[in-house]
Amino acid sequence: MPPGGEIRNRKLICLAGFMGSGKTTVGQLLARQMGWHFVDLDTAIEERAGLNIPAIFERLGEPGFRELEHEALLRTLGEAAGRQRPTVVALGGGTFAQPQSFAVLRSPGCAVIWLHCPVEDLLARCAVITNRPLFRDEASFRKLYEQRLPFYEQADYRVDATAEPRRVVEQILTMEDFEKVNA
Ligand code: S3P
Repeated sequence: MPPGGEIRNRKLICLAGFMGSGKTTVGQLLARQMGWHFVDLDTAIEERAGLNIPAIFERLGEPGFRELEHEALLRTLGEAAGRQRPTVVALGGGTFAQPQSFAVLRSPGCAVIWLHCPVEDLLARCAVITNRPLFRDEASFRKLYEQRLPFYEQADYRVDATAEPRRVVEQILTMEDFEKVNA
């Protein structure tokens, strides 16, 4: 297999990682560079609901949001399966840590890449963006990060997402700096 061959041959790549890890930016760049289809799961949820994420949390609470998220995931994966071009999906920060969605994402044919970033970096990034309902304060942010780590650690691959997005895409495509999480 040539370097990067494994990932280039995938039909479905899902980017997981905590809030602020750069899933959307990296996913868009990766898709643009490779001519792949791109789906941002949060955007898919918003379009379907006709509401933005904060409004969904306000009206339905987190459990309601998680239901919409799971439905959007199933729809997205189904559409990806019917597409010729590979699809890259930027998940929401919590998607891979929801047992129902986790089970779907661990099914064969789906490569999950964890955009790994220390919590300090994530805090700094998220502090300047205010539209995340689950970013309340530093203590709860750190706690949620710790709770989700065991899920992210079950991704297929991990990349260093402290690098700039262009470099993260390079890591994904070259495989060299790419760690197989469960190798
Ligand atoms: C969430 C992260 C958000 C969005 C929602 C819930 C989470 O996505 O799905 O606010 O549970 O961490 P980003 O990671 O893209 O901010």
